[in-house]
Amino acid sequence: MSDTATLDRPATQAAAAPPLLEINGILKIFPGVVALNNVGFKLRAGTVHALMGENGAGKSTLMKIIAGIYIPDKGDIRLRGKAIHMKSPLDALNLGIAMIHQELNLMPYMTVAENVWITREPKNAFGFVDHAELYRKTAALFAELNIKIDPREEIQNLSVASRQMVEIAKAVSWNSDVLIMDEPTSALTETEVAHLFAIIRNLRAKGKGIIYITHKMNELFEIADEFSVFRDGQYIATHASTEVTRDDIIRMMVGREITQMFPKMEVPIGEVVLSVKDLCVEGIFKNVSFDIRAGEIVGMAGLVGSGRSNVAEALFGVVPATSGSISIKGVPITISTPTQALAAGMAFLTEDRKETGCFLSLNIQDNMDSAVLNQRYVSKGFVQGDQLAKDCAEMAKRLRVKTPSMGEIIQNLSGGNQQKVLVGRWLLTNPRILILDEPTRGIDVGAKAEIHRLVSELAGTGVAILMISSEMPEVLGMSDRVVVMHGGQVTGILDRKDANQVSVMDLAAK
Ligand SMILES: Nc1ncnc2c1ncn2[C@@H]1O[C@H](COP(=O)(O)OP(=O)(O)OP(=O)(O)O)[C@@H](O)[C@H]1O
Ligand SMILES: [Mg+2]
Repeated sequence: MSDTATLDRPATQAAAAPPLLEINGILKIFPGVVALNNVGFKLRAGTVHALMGENGAGKSTLMKIIAGIYIPDKGDIRLRGKAIHMKSPLDALNLGIAMIHQELNLMPYMTVAENVWITREPKNAFGFVDHAELYRKTAALFAELNIKIDPREEIQNLSVASRQMVEIAKAVSWNSDVLIMDEPTSALTETEVAHLFAIIRNLRAKGKGIIYITHKMNELFEIADEFSVFRDGQYIATHASTEVTRDDIIRMMVGREITQMFPKMEVPIGEVVLSVKDLCVEGIFKNVSFDIRAGEIVGMAGLVGSGRSNVAEALFGVVPATSGSISIKGVPITISTPTQALAAGMAFLTEDRKETGCFLSLNIQDNMDSAVLNQRYVSKGFVQGDQLAKDCAEMAKRLRVKTPSMGEIIQNLSGGNQQKVLVGRWLLTNPRILILDEPTRGIDVGAKAEIHRLVSELAGTGVAILMISSEMPEVLGMSDRVVVMHGGQVTGILDRKDANQVSVMDLAAK
């Protein structure tokens, strides 16, 4: 099989190739949850195989089994026809199976090079780490992958996108034949996604098998040769990605029709609620001005790094503005801490669920109600516990949080289900102003539509909403107006009727 043939028409070529990895009859049970039930699929050499399924379908669990992190309760795994039994991730790596995780796992205070070669550092004659060699090896690896990151930089100083590239390089450095990528593009810019895809195509041409988990349908059509769908811990089907349409896949994933992808309601638009004028955070963004009216959803578009999240953080007092003004209903207000923002009726869903969002060791109920406790549900000094619990449970149900109970520790939820709990937390606060930063990142199509419906309903009650999103269809589908940023400045504000892929990208690239 020639490389070009693999690139051009992989699925049919691949059909003739023997499976690189074959999984059969996998059962995995967690307390109260059958995460995988009799699941299997085949990965062929020289192909990209996507795994699709709703949040909690079992994708990450299956991958963690293949990567030696979990041991299955039943079932077998064959590599090139030979049964393998792994007891640790190191066993898997030694067999040539490497995984890039959904939640990044690098050591923040160590350098890039130390992270890549951790446990495999080159040693000198005295048995100490040979740093010169360590950095040389890393530079060579990065050059091969065309990654431009300084191997001596500490991880903590890197953007999330760069960290993701380091994780990818680390997995490739094991020279594995099977590479597992669990939502690898969640924090990448478009240029970086293109870069990652070039790396993937190159690996595929070398005959590697790549398992690719994503919730982004366009990625599936762009990079995957085949895909398998999982639902509720069960295997549903495998197809070549050329055989199906978007709607076919959604139907297989959710097992029901999704009638409307962006259920935006027509609601009356009221007075200006939030007014931002010439807002600056020195060295980060400058002269940002816009208004949001009651009932209005203002989308904020721009490339990653354009300053959108920084504006949100300034509004909420996380990193307060150094100049400019904020008024709420015409009254100027100083917001220098999140407590002040909350008191002024603001709510903020941050983009980074691991660092600023979840309390990983608390249960769903406690994570959901942490923002509302001191507000709506206190009457005469008492917390209305029953009502609160009821509303949290109702919210979890609407967002289809997949869990055995509200008492489940949030760490045990799948990535997308953790995100749903956080979205629910802020939707329950009943704010005057709601700021959402990448609200549907990692969320499956069905739950996405439900979150959009809830946001639309909130707007209908007069809440002013600012929604930052890197997903163009979401911005265009949900916004009344779109504020576009580039390089720390607002490059334009478009009305709904004027906002489209081209007009927004034009301003985002200015
Ligand atoms: N360590 C654990 N303890 C208990 N339950 C778990 C654990 N890990 C996963 N689960 C449960 O197993 C099921 C499958 O989770 P998994 O993370 O595999 O889903 P996923 O398909 O990757 O979803 P997502 O798209 O949200 O990432 C979920 O119901 C989840 O809550
Ligand atoms: Mg997952």
